[in-house]
Amino acid sequence: MQLKPLDAFLNLPKGLACLALAACASTRAPEGRPDVAPSAEAGAQARAGELAAARPGAATCGDPLVPASGNGGYDVQSYALELRFVSVDEPLEATARIRARALHGLTRFNLDFYGLEVRTVQIDGADALFEREGQELVLWPAKPIAAEANFEVVIAYGGVPSGVEDSTLPVPGVKIGWLSAEGEAYVFSQPNGAMNFLPCNDHPSDKALYSARLTAPKPLLAVTNGVLQETIDNGDTRTFVWSARDPMATYLITIAVGEFEVEELVAQDGRKYINYYSPKLRASQRKSFAKTPEIIEILESITGPYPFESCGNIASCLPLPAALETQTIPVYGLGSGVESVIAHEHAHQWFGDLVSVADWSDIWLNEGFAEYLAWMYSERAKGPEAFDKIVYGAYRSMRNAKGNTPGKVTARSMFGSSVYVRGPLVLHALRLDVGDETFQRTLRSWCEKYAHGNANIANFLEHASSVAGRDVRPLLNPWLYDEQIPRWPAYDERIDAENRERDARRAKRDAEKAARDAEKAAKEAAKAAEGQPKDG
Ligand code: ARG
Ligand code: ZN
Repeated sequence: MQLKPLDAFLNLPKGLACLALAACASTRAPEGRPDVAPSAEAGAQARAGELAAARPGAATCGDPLVPASGNGGYDVQSYALELRFVSVDEPLEATARIRARALHGLTRFNLDFYGLEVRTVQIDGADALFEREGQELVLWPAKPIAAEANFEVVIAYGGVPSGVEDSTLPVPGVKIGWLSAEGEAYVFSQPNGAMNFLPCNDHPSDKALYSARLTAPKPLLAVTNGVLQETIDNGDTRTFVWSARDPMATYLITIAVGEFEVEELVAQDGRKYINYYSPKLRASQRKSFAKTPEIIEILESITGPYPFESCGNIASCLPLPAALETQTIPVYGLGSGVESVIAHEHAHQWFGDLVSVADWSDIWLNEGFAEYLAWMYSERAKGPEAFDKIVYGAYRSMRNAKGNTPGKVTARSMFGSSVYVRGPLVLHALRLDVGDETFQRTLRSWCEKYAHGNANIANFLEHASSVAGRDVRPLLNPWLYDEQIPRWPAYDERIDAENRERDARRAKRDAEKAARDAEKAAKEAAKAAEGQPKDG
């Protein structure tokens, strides 16, 4: 955005300097100043100081992999979404009420918002000016917001969302955000698709409370995270009132609207699980989802109590070969709901959802951990042989791969094999070194220490070292950061033996084929000789 010098100083759209000066003049000095009656001059100085201190919130939070995501200058406390759905081809109408706290004085600040049309914006009850630039929604409060102040933004918006280009998959053209298929709508946002249906601080570092009132025509159901508190019958439509108890990252919000079949399971301990099935789902897949209570029980035995107040699955009809660990209720592409993936997504409830990445470069803390927990689920549900087969297969496939460093990835490799295949092996190396008991204690206390917060890879290495009582970095750094994966001699021998056997089988096959060919050639030669006229 190009601003003239005075406008630029005040951070206002062109021509709005007068309004800003009037607004600033009425700003009160913050509380907590020295206990002396300020002179008129001192008061004016304080006001001027505050005006000078207020500044624009940053337009991004500087994520190394998803650089446009997030914003600076404030901390969101809660999102309350009201959304009206008619059909996948008709516009959504929505209002988002966002409560936030200013981290410094704010003359303006940004939200991430991509696609839909903004109708009105109010900040603390007063109309606010806004401008849009790509995914940045820039908001100018009528007067600067003081440092530490709580404020409320209400945004009315609408339209037909058409997704956000996914910058993280190695295949082009895949979209994230608000998606639809077969007349059903689903939100699948990782890493930055939430801005497609909700103006937000679209970065995992700013977790906030979330609630929603979703209205849809009968007979459609509208599902989101947390607990369904109430269903209001409006005649032709219904409003589903949802709220989630714990803070969540924006990419962990999901919404699903469709004519779902609802399955309620009650576990032996009395806990309820709710699955929502797209009508397009095959019966065999429902069987896998029905295993969720057992999956949770096993995960709890490894990593401590399930962290949230509700649990279930959304089995969508999206043609996506992926699933997403949306908080309390993961969402699955059609065909992705297999047992190992269901275990993986629920393991994320601890690793990713309860404890979230500080930024996307810490993705190993999500995917490496969720995948290793899914392996451990197999170990407990199916036995040590099944587990050994997985670990061996992973090591074997990574042994000669170069540069698959789970601790250092790019946007295009953050959901690739370095994180999903070599990533879990890092944890296996730790477990082999410290033993099962210490390893489990490391996972549990990690979840307790960083519950509902954020952490980075360095935090984990430090934590694991403190639980082990010695520095585990010399062991784990090569697994995380070396171009070449460290060696496991026992597996190497097994691989070599397998390779030798394979080579011997091949050589035998080749020799047999050569013998057959020679025999055939001899026969043909004999036949040809028979057909030749005999001379003389
Ligand atoms: N976190 C998801 C999972 O583990 C992967 C989602 C990747 N998809 C994407 N569009 N970037 O299973
Ligand atoms: Zn995952």
